[in-house]
Amino acid sequence: MRILESDRLILRKFTGDDWQNLYEYLSNEAVVRYEPYPAFTEEECRREAERRSEQDAFWAVCLKENNKLIGNVYLQQQEPKEFLTWEIGYVFNPAYYGKGYAAESCRKMVEYAFEQLNARRIVAMCNPENAASWKLLERLKMRREGHLRKNIYFKRDRHGNPIWADTYEYAILAEEWFEHDYILRTSKG
Ligand SMILES: CC(C)(COP(=O)(O)OP(=O)(O)OC[C@H]1O[C@@H](n2cnc3c(N)ncnc32)[C@H](O)[C@@H]1OP(=O)(O)O)[C@@H](O)C(=O)NCCC(=O)NCCS
Repeated sequence: MRILESDRLILRKFTGDDWQNLYEYLSNEAVVRYEPYPAFTEEECRREAERRSEQDAFWAVCLKENNKLIGNVYLQQQEPKEFLTWEIGYVFNPAYYGKGYAAESCRKMVEYAFEQLNARRIVAMCNPENAASWKLLERLKMRREGHLRKNIYFKRDRHGNPIWADTYEYAILAEEWFEHDYILRTSKG
């Protein structure tokens, strides 16, 4: 079974039984505010846990101390495949924000992509209003490469008009990561 481990976390494949933990955070409007989908119902979480268990892009992030599923990381190869580019994304249960868990799990995913999947470039997108998200990307030493103006919408207003949103684009190259990782490893002695 596919498992990754960091100091405090286990990253593993989803199972159908994870739906209740998913429901704890995907049912929360504030959590999905910048996501391309509305809050989930219980039934949708049951289906979503099954769907995630059948594909490779979603990783469940669990606390080592008690196996509690506290969020998910998404890692998906982009087309065309020969560009060796992966996109990373993340959504966590707010009860576990502010403890560095998202950063710790994303760091592990980035390391996995560069070291095991032969990724050349990792990218991420977020809404500039979502400061928690771009701060996390900057903690991972990703570089802001673009600010796209009103390029996308996920939601509509009460009149049915699109709510256009800006996008920050972030990226990091394998050589930058290994250089950074090298510095971290050597600074720890
Ligand atoms: C984006 C999201 C995952 C960020 O979560 P987070 O907990 O703030 O992120 P981190 O894991 O990087 O934690 C950083 C915070 O933990 C604190 N922290 C505490 N202990 C820490 C530790 N041991 N190591 C690192 N940071 C630690 C940091 O100081 C920082 O606090 P600050 O925000 O007050 O500066 C979360 O807000 C979320 O799930 N949002 C909803 C979904 C979403 O918008 N996803 C992104 C769509 S693009």
